[in-house]
Amino acid sequence: MIRVRKKIGLIPRYNWDYKFSDYAKAFKAALKSDSNNEPTLEKIFGWKPLFTTSGRASLYAILKSLDLAKDAKIAVPLYCCPVVFDAVRQADMTPIFIDINPDDYTLSASDLEKKIDSVSAVVVVHMFGHPVDFDAISRVSGNIPIIEDCAQSLLSNYKGRYTGFLSNVSFFSFRSGKYISAGEGSAIFSTDPKLLESIGKLIEKFDDWTNFQQILHCTGTYIKSSLYRRPWYGIVGYPIGRALDRKLNLTAKTGFRFKKIAGCDIRLINDRIKTFSKNIEKQRVNAFYFFKKIRLPDVFLPKEKKDCWSNYFQFALRFNNREQRNHMADHLLKCGIDTAKYLDDIVETAQEYYNYKGDCPKTEESSKKVLIIPNHYTLSQKDLDYIIDCLNAASMSNNSFIS
Ligand SMILES: Cc1ncc(COP(=O)(O)O)c(C=O)c1O
Repeated sequence: MIRVRKKIGLIPRYNWDYKFSDYAKAFKAALKSDSNNEPTLEKIFGWKPLFTTSGRASLYAILKSLDLAKDAKIAVPLYCCPVVFDAVRQADMTPIFIDINPDDYTLSASDLEKKIDSVSAVVVVHMFGHPVDFDAISRVSGNIPIIEDCAQSLLSNYKGRYTGFLSNVSFFSFRSGKYISAGEGSAIFSTDPKLLESIGKLIEKFDDWTNFQQILHCTGTYIKSSLYRRPWYGIVGYPIGRALDRKLNLTAKTGFRFKKIAGCDIRLINDRIKTFSKNIEKQRVNAFYFFKKIRLPDVFLPKEKKDCWSNYFQFALRFNNREQRNHMADHLLKCGIDTAKYLDDIVETAQEYYNYKGDCPKTEESSKKVLIIPNHYTLSQKDLDYIIDCLNAASMSNNSFIS
């Protein structure tokens, strides 16, 4: 049980940064259908995006436009948000699961090589903001299209090139809980004009948002985001989230809508992206502070690999075994720090719904040992030091991680 004081101060696992000023802007845009279509993403990346309401809808549109056979097999990392598998399924295709490199949780080129003969396209995920080893993957893939899932890798780069522009087609997500927590929204980029045209034609058929739907959507996002902040998170957001997450689909792990982007979401995306790199820099500084200060023998920390610049969207610790991981999660919760056992049940989900056959051992291991700790750019220095102290104190009690 968490004590009342800890409840009030409970540090949320994720950062739903959507303040009243954001809501006011979104609400105005929803009323007026005035979405501020400034080409801000184009200015940053040098390419014009197409938009949909979600990363999953974007992936669907890309897959449907790639000229692949019905029931084509699509390589996806098993260590991945299950909505990606659902998008493949919605496109009438079949996910083929590829294992990960445990040092950065991204798709393993060597496992892909074993399975490449049966696949028609490859989805790579820059997990937690860490870029994939793109050279190795493109060597293995040859002429097979590679789709970059940049839901978590805004402004990360590989050999000095932004993720999303390593292959010739990619998508980003701006859903709340991601870096730009705009409610919903996704951008698609492609350097192939013909492919972009086909995707654009398909998206044209997606549903529009009415003004009323947008008002409900931005109001709901504002309420949920407020419950994801202190003091409400520990008192209301966390207990409700725990009890009702699946039922109410609060974190949108399931569900599929073929919708265009809402004007209120695009308004915020354009607004926030302009100066967002400073938040990412701050989150990186937090990550490097953790590296310097966390003293957990035997716990694997997510160091950047050569040629990779990570945005450190998430900070994942990997423990020796599930029990240690779970003990640490319980200990931190008692201290007033919420964490996430990210993708803990991904293997079971893939087995039950997507015919996963058990050939990704590294993912199976990681999914039971990873713990995401808060490292958000919104945390204060006091918060960071407190998180570090709590982690280190647990490790000193006989290395059993019991407080
Ligand atoms: C790696 C990854 N890919 C795709 C998605 C889907 O994005 P969206 O929630 O915008 O559909 C998510 C998030 O849910 C994700 O984490």
